[in-house]
Amino acid sequence: MDNRPIGFFDSGLGGLTSVHELHKRLPEEKVIYYGDTARTPYGSKSPETIKTFATQIVDYLVSKNPKMIIIACNTVTSWALDSLRERYPEIPILGVIEPTVRRVVSDGCKRVGVIATKATIKSDIYGRSLKSLDPEMQVYSLACPALVPLIEEGFTDSEIMELTVKHYMDDFVRDHDFDHLILGCTHYPLVAKHIRKHYPGIKLYNSSAEVIKDAAKILTENDMLAKGSELRDRYYASDLSENFIAMTDLLFAGTDFKIKFIKLED
Ligand code: DGL
Repeated sequence: MDNRPIGFFDSGLGGLTSVHELHKRLPEEKVIYYGDTARTPYGSKSPETIKTFATQIVDYLVSKNPKMIIIACNTVTSWALDSLRERYPEIPILGVIEPTVRRVVSDGCKRVGVIATKATIKSDIYGRSLKSLDPEMQVYSLACPALVPLIEEGFTDSEIMELTVKHYMDDFVRDHDFDHLILGCTHYPLVAKHIRKHYPGIKLYNSSAEVIKDAAKILTENDMLAKGSELRDRYYASDLSENFIAMTDLLFAGTDFKIKFIKLED
């Protein structure tokens, strides 16, 4: 048994979709979450900047003594997973990409679409990882840079969001005719309903959920599951915007969700 919290972080509220999956699968676990709302989006930033921001956040989370850290962000996983693991070899640090890739390959998919931020697509990490496990896999990738800012602005249920999803997806789906799609950004499960509505034949893979299956396995195998912890979940953000509070209120309605503003110094 290990009652220390699990650290999560993202550029903003996208990683909360992963926390939501953790709460469903392992309700006894406690969370310490950092959303870098002051500096979101990460997807249009350089790899160096992404690494710097991620290192600052992980240093902060490590100071809170987590038993595991989940990088609930594809963009950070793409560019900083290896350097973060090197910096903290004693802490299990999980990225969202590898578990998703394994799941897609084990399902026997042969034509897969990937939507993600510009930085994730530029890294080609999904294409490289999928093809290294299945050289015959056809992977089609598309950056959707307008989605994260709209989600952070609270437009998830709006017509603007539906039109933006269609703007990106219509040609992409028609040109490549894939039947499986990876939501390669942890913000995207918040708009998955628009994708399901317009492209109902496409099976979606949710990177926010896949990583939690791996976390559950590692914690179980190492006898590190929490039990009867009296800790509370703690949520931190680098900027407490009205939208962030509104979105978290929506996602965590009926829970004891509390958020605090913490500015990370260089
Ligand atoms: N949620 C993030 C991801 O999975 C980051 C999005 C962004 O800040 O651009 O990539």
